[in-house]
Amino acid sequence: MENDREMQSGGTAGRARVMAIANQKGGVGKTTTALTLGEALSRLSKRVLVIDLDPHANASVYMSFFPEMVTVSAHDLFFDNVDYKVVWPAIVQKREHVGFDFVPACIRLSELEVDLKDRKNKGMVLSTALEEVKEFYDYILIDCPPHVGVLLVNAIVASDFVLIPIQTDFLALYGIRLLFDTIKILNKVLPSPVRFRALPTMYDGRAGACRKILNLIRRKLGNKVFSTIIHMDTKFREACASGRIIFDIDPKTRGALEYMQLAREILRNENS
Ligand SMILES: Nc1ncnc2c1ncn2[C@@H]1O[C@H](COP(=O)(O)OP(=O)(O)OP(=O)(O)O)[C@@H](O)[C@H]1O
Ligand SMILES: [Mg+2]
Repeated sequence: MENDREMQSGGTAGRARVMAIANQKGGVGKTTTALTLGEALSRLSKRVLVIDLDPHANASVYMSFFPEMVTVSAHDLFFDNVDYKVVWPAIVQKREHVGFDFVPACIRLSELEVDLKDRKNKGMVLSTALEEVKEFYDYILIDCPPHVGVLLVNAIVASDFVLIPIQTDFLALYGIRLLFDTIKILNKVLPSPVRFRALPTMYDGRAGACRKILNLIRRKLGNKVFSTIIHMDTKFREACASGRIIFDIDPKTRGALEYMQLAREILRNENS
């Protein structure tokens, strides 16, 4: 593992847009979205950093950063008095055939709930840390854990935008309440309201229940839902099992095309 590599840079320095991929419901496609959208954006020539902020480290394992080999991780950003000039270059990793930079997670992230208890501005730690690298990237995507807590708050506070994958499944709608409650609470203290947009995932147009749920999501959230819908595609599991991003398996498969469409929709929204 190279630790002294340079972060993606070059071209005109920009200020990254930060996107938290969040939903405290488990298994809705957060990690898949963070990695696949990250790759799609990088294939559209954007400089992308994906951060795994989930103590379960699914994205890290997917990217072949296994717990036993991860000695530096996103957790290092939460130490007291961090020297970012040392920590960022140490934690940012690169994988062959992957277009984005990546920061792995580790299980110690789960201890932050307790460790940060008495820290002043404990919800702003990540936001402060990201300021140090925004100039190197166009997009920073944060894969959030499936529960509400200090990590999710840090991710949302640091974000320009929250992308909420919603599985087009009846039970998935119940989970979404908690996330909106968190956003409402944060809106009371943040200088501007949290911007968010929902992404329907794992859609199966043949299933009446899926169609009903999609209509419901669109009715309830209106233009806060992406036009792009991510359908069920078995290639995602295949990609995950082989530690590759779906574009690497088959760039023409439906899932790959739809995440590319999502990336284009995000870029279009930025420019409108
Ligand atoms: N569009 C899809 N079609 C088929 N399978 C999918 C799709 N999106 C994700 N999956 C699969 O569903 C499972 C859960 O996805 P993922 O890990 O991305 O969810 P998550 O929200 O990050 O879960 P967790 O809350 O546990 O972190 C994975 O096995 C993934 O490969
Ligand atoms: Mg996940």
